[in-house]
Formats: sequence, C-alpha cells, structure tokens
Amino acid sequence: MSFRLVIALAAIFGAGSALAADPPAAAQPAAVPAAPAMTAAAPADAAPKAAAAEVAAAALKPGDATSGQAKSATCAACHGMDGNPASSQYPKLAGQHEDYIVRQVNLFKSHKRENAVMMGFVATLSEQDMHDIGAYFAAKASLPGVADAKLVQRGEALYRGGDKASGLPACMACHGPDGRGNPGAGYPQLGGQYADYVTLKLKDFAAGKGYSDDERAKVMVTVAKGLGEQDIAALATYIEGLHAADTGSTAAK
Ligand code: HEC
Ligand code: HEC
Repeated sequence: MSFRLVIALAAIFGAGSALAADPPAAAQPAAVPAAPAMTAAAPADAAPKAAAAEVAAAALKPGDATSGQAKSATCAACHGMDGNPASSQYPKLAGQHEDYIVRQVNLFKSHKRENAVMMGFVATLSEQDMHDIGAYFAAKASLPGVADAKLVQRGEALYRGGDKASGLPACMACHGPDGRGNPGAGYPQLGGQYADYVTLKLKDFAAGKGYSDDERAKVMVTVAKGLGEQDIAALATYIEGLHAADTGSTAAK
C-alpha cells in the first residue's frame, strides 16, 4: 500500500479505527520466507537500482541476535547494553523492529538522515551486521517511562483520536494502540520512547524536515504538519509512558 494512500485513509477515518484493525505486531509473520520468491521474480541484473538493492537485502540471512549482541558493543555506549539508554539524549532501540533499525542505519550511512554523532559508528557496518544488530535490539523489551500527569490526557486524545479540526490523523492508526508499531508496514515502535527524543523528531517533522528526499520519512512530515509545541509536548510524554502490555500510558500522580 502506498504511504500516501495510508495517509488518505488515516485522514478519512480520523479516529483510526479502520487502520487499527491491522493484526497486532506479534501476529506478523517474519518476512524471511518470502525472500526466495522475490529474488526469482526480480533478477538483480534486470532490476532498476532501487529494486536491485531490495533484492540484495532480501537475499540476506535473517538477522542473528547472538552475533548481533557482539556487534552492538559499540552501540551500547549510547543506546545501552539492552537498547535502553541511561540518558534521554539517545533513543531507545529496545524492542524496535529489525527492519526499521536497518533502514535508519542505512539512512545515516547515506547521509540522508544527518547526525554527526551516529555517522561515525555506522559507516563500516555491512548489511548483515545491521540485520544482526537489529535482531538483537528487537528481541529486547523497551522499558516504559512515566508520563507527565498534566499533559497525559491531551496526549492520549491526540494519539488515539487525532484532531479533526487541524486534520491530524490518529497516531494509533499506524503506530498501534499500544505503541508497538507494525513491522510489516514499516511503522516503528514508539511506546516507551524518551519524550526528549520524540519531541526532537516531531519538531523536525512539523518544520517540514524529513530525511532528505526519502519518501517514507515524508509520511511523518505530512502527519505532523502544523503540530504545535503544546501538542508535541503532550504526545511525547504520553508516548514515553505508553506500555506494550496494555493500551494505556502510566502518568505520574
Ligand atoms: C556516541 C553515541 C552513539 C553511538 C555510539 C551510537 N549511536 Fe545511534 N544514535 C545516537 C543519537 C544521538 C541518535 C539520535 C539521532 C537523531 O536525533 O536523529 C541515534 C539514533 C540511532 C538510530 C535511530 C533510532 C530511531 O528510533 O529512529 C538507530 C537505529 C541507531 N542510532 C543505531 C545505532 C547503532 C546500530 C549503533 C552501533 C553500531 C549506534 N547507533 C551507536 C547516538 C549514538
Ligand atoms: C500514516 C501512518 C502514520 C501515522 C498516522 C503516524 N505515523 Fe509516525 N511514523 C510513520 C512512519 C512510516 C514512520 C517511520 C518513517 C521512517 O521509516 O523513516 C514514523 C515515524 C515516527 C516517529 C519517529 C520514530 C523514531 O524512532 O525515530 C515518531 C516520533 C512518530 N512517527 C510519531 C507519530 C505521532 C506522534 C503520530 C500522531 C500524531 C504519528 N506518528 C502518526 C507513520 C505514521
């Protein structure tokens, strides 16, 4: 499904009930069995550049969490041994989907996603390394934080229902009621993510800043258009307290 179509659907259905009917993340089959068929259908030499890259990626062995653990030693300094960093300066990777991690690392490598800190650590990673590291962090659990009691209600309303007046779609339509996202569709996990990081991202998206000309990142640029500072703060704190185990956010009393 094209992302524009998804946006259109999300806008039409507002509260997100239609898209929220997606199967839960746990029910998604691993993408692995489809790989040989994709290779056969699109021989690398005949395919255009982008498709060739996809075929190459599909031909990889699935990420191996055990080798990923050793390969992620350099990442641990910032992202934490288990993907839950000690400092909110760094995003949590624990529980994040393997393919999303691989995709973002590739965006850093190609300089489409600009970050001076990250650049140096990923330059030498192979596609297989990225999958192994992705599989390792994906198998960890994100530790949820605690939402700000003053903002959590507004955050929940926006996350679950969007804002009809401003045309903001419900975040839940793509990222799931429990914030686990949808690996098959490329919607990242958000639940438990540090509010500081979410705020940073949403401010960039709202200001029209995606990852260069990358099409998929433009989804959020469209979603967050016109999102104000107060609503960004409310969404970010709600997301930090959002648990995968239930569909609510834990707020400070
Ligand atoms: C010196 C600190 C540091 C190290 C070491 C580091 N990172 Fe990062 N990483 C960051 C920062 C800061 C960001 C947030 C960048 C931004 O705001 O765009 C980030 C972002 C990311 C993201 C994007 C997360 C998201 O939710 O979109 C991924 C994936 C990632 N890092 C993977 C890695 C991997 C894999 C390694 C090890 C090979 C690594 N990082 C090593 C600091 C670091
Ligand atoms: C139409 C589907 C869709 C909707 C609705 C949506 N998102 Fe997203 N979101 C995405 C996609 C796709 C990405 C990943 C983009 C990429 O791969 O670079 C993303 C990424 C993000 C990220 C960056 C995650 C990270 O780890 O860096 C944040 C934060 C985010 N979304 C927050 C929200 C919030 C808050 C809402 C509701 C206001 C929302 N999203 C609604 C599809 C959606």
